[in-house]
Amino acid sequence: MQQTADVTEELARRVVSAARRALDVELTPEQALIQASPRDGVDYQGNLAMSLGKRLGRPPREVAGLIAGALELDGIADPPEVAGPGFLNFVLRRDWLETRTAALLGDPRLGVPETASPRRIALDYSSPNVAKEMHVGHLRTSVIGDALARLLRFAGHEVLPHNHLGDWGTPFGMLIEHLLDVSSEHRAIADLDAFYREARRKFDGDEAFATRSRERVVLLQSGDEETLGIWRELIAESTRHFNEVYALLGISLTDKDIYGESFYNPYLAAVVEDLEKAGLTELSDGAVCVFPEGFRNREGDRLPLIVRKRDGGYGYAATDLATVRYWTAERGATDLLYVVGAPQAQHFAMVFAVCRAAGWLTGNAEHIGFGTVLGADGKTMRTRAGDTVKLADLLTEAVAHAAAVVAERSELDAAEQAEVARAVGIGAVKYADLSGDRERDYVFAWDRMLATEGNTSVYLQYAHARTESILRKAGGVPDGTEIMLEAAAERALALKLLRFGEALKAATSAYAPHKLCTYLYETAVAFSQFYTECPVLKAPSPELRASRLRLTTLTSHTLALGLSLLGIEAPERL
Ligand code: ARG
Repeated sequence: MQQTADVTEELARRVVSAARRALDVELTPEQALIQASPRDGVDYQGNLAMSLGKRLGRPPREVAGLIAGALELDGIADPPEVAGPGFLNFVLRRDWLETRTAALLGDPRLGVPETASPRRIALDYSSPNVAKEMHVGHLRTSVIGDALARLLRFAGHEVLPHNHLGDWGTPFGMLIEHLLDVSSEHRAIADLDAFYREARRKFDGDEAFATRSRERVVLLQSGDEETLGIWRELIAESTRHFNEVYALLGISLTDKDIYGESFYNPYLAAVVEDLEKAGLTELSDGAVCVFPEGFRNREGDRLPLIVRKRDGGYGYAATDLATVRYWTAERGATDLLYVVGAPQAQHFAMVFAVCRAAGWLTGNAEHIGFGTVLGADGKTMRTRAGDTVKLADLLTEAVAHAAAVVAERSELDAAEQAEVARAVGIGAVKYADLSGDRERDYVFAWDRMLATEGNTSVYLQYAHARTESILRKAGGVPDGTEIMLEAAAERALALKLLRFGEALKAATSAYAPHKLCTYLYETAVAFSQFYTECPVLKAPSPELRASRLRLTTLTSHTLALGLSLLGIEAPERL
């Protein structure tokens, strides 16, 4: 199927050339300021006349009128009306909408072209810490990061995911010693958190153990083979656990995406050397520091990024400097994205500033921050006992809650219900995480995320299952592609379906999956309206029945593809 520009682009291109003809000005398509209109009875509006009028020193309404008069719309829309202070109001033509919608049929990409300028994007997400269980804080980075990976790939970019495991540093001395103790008792690590706590307890309370642990850190850092072997066991044990959570969550990270903190060890000396050569370092209290410009604390003192500690060791900041240097210089990444909680915003801003000063970073680097998951009390979510909530427990609970919701309305047998409950429960947790502006905190509430009405994945999954059920009952969609948009609800649904590409673009360019969620929800609502007002199987004519089945098919594909780009399953039956 032919892939075409979206409606906004089509209109923008024509407005640009009309402005050139009528006013002799050169605009970019973005400056045409075309957007979907919130007004009833208007599909798109062009908002350029206000700023253009100012620039040209002419009344905006006059500018709008001249552009409108010069527009060549080629049957896309009727000549626009000039409204208010100078809006251009576009109403798309029915025949054009019908042809455009028909062109989506059979196109697996639903009319969305791949980017003409693919980028190579290094994407840091999930990044839990070894020998600790993944907790609810890792939910967001995993879910948002994975959705971004899917969206960026679909857009045609190359995505290099990397999982920055916390697998290095002083705690590993005590963890290794503890592992040696327990394996001599032939105990496996059943519970990573308990294992960590126990190691910590011994470290704090047992002087001999603490000494052994400190010696072990030295051995580890000097590359002692035996120690490295035990360390690897610990990593393997942890990644086994992480992979279980990823499988449950449907996160696409694998072992080959692991680039833990330890991976960057061989690069750290060169990082310091480069910075020293560039004259960026200062010695402060025995530590090698860089003071990037523009970062000060409340007292007005310059803030340091500690590159090498006083004892010669390297910390979190040095490692992140190395990640930038590695992914740009060694892997040719054009963009660096770090999906990490909002509290680390300053850390990344400083890391990027230093890397720009050092010349390692010329392209785009972004910290994709996100807010906190809150409990019902509005504080960071915790278990009743006050512990952090383990992700694995949370997901098991989600599936149990979903099973109850599904059982209420499902016609499926028990085995099928169990499978569907997994898709619904996991989907609900992911969607609740994705559907709000990522920078904001949100309250984790089962009843809200599993509500069958409103902007939830369950609602979308039911809408999708309904489309599939209609198509099954119809016993196939007649050949042909004719679409007839007679009723207002048919037209509204078709217009939504044509906006899939716009929604994806908005979600992808702002790293904002919630924009896709909103779009999918609006599409499901438009479908529900259509389904209520326009009989499909009992349509008044065979042509209309075929057309409505085609709209149903397109809705089904749009919801399924949209959900899959968020990492959420769309079962055919619920
Ligand atoms: N391991 C860290 C944590 O659990 C997150 C690491 C994020 N990535 C990075 N390159 N710093 O908080």
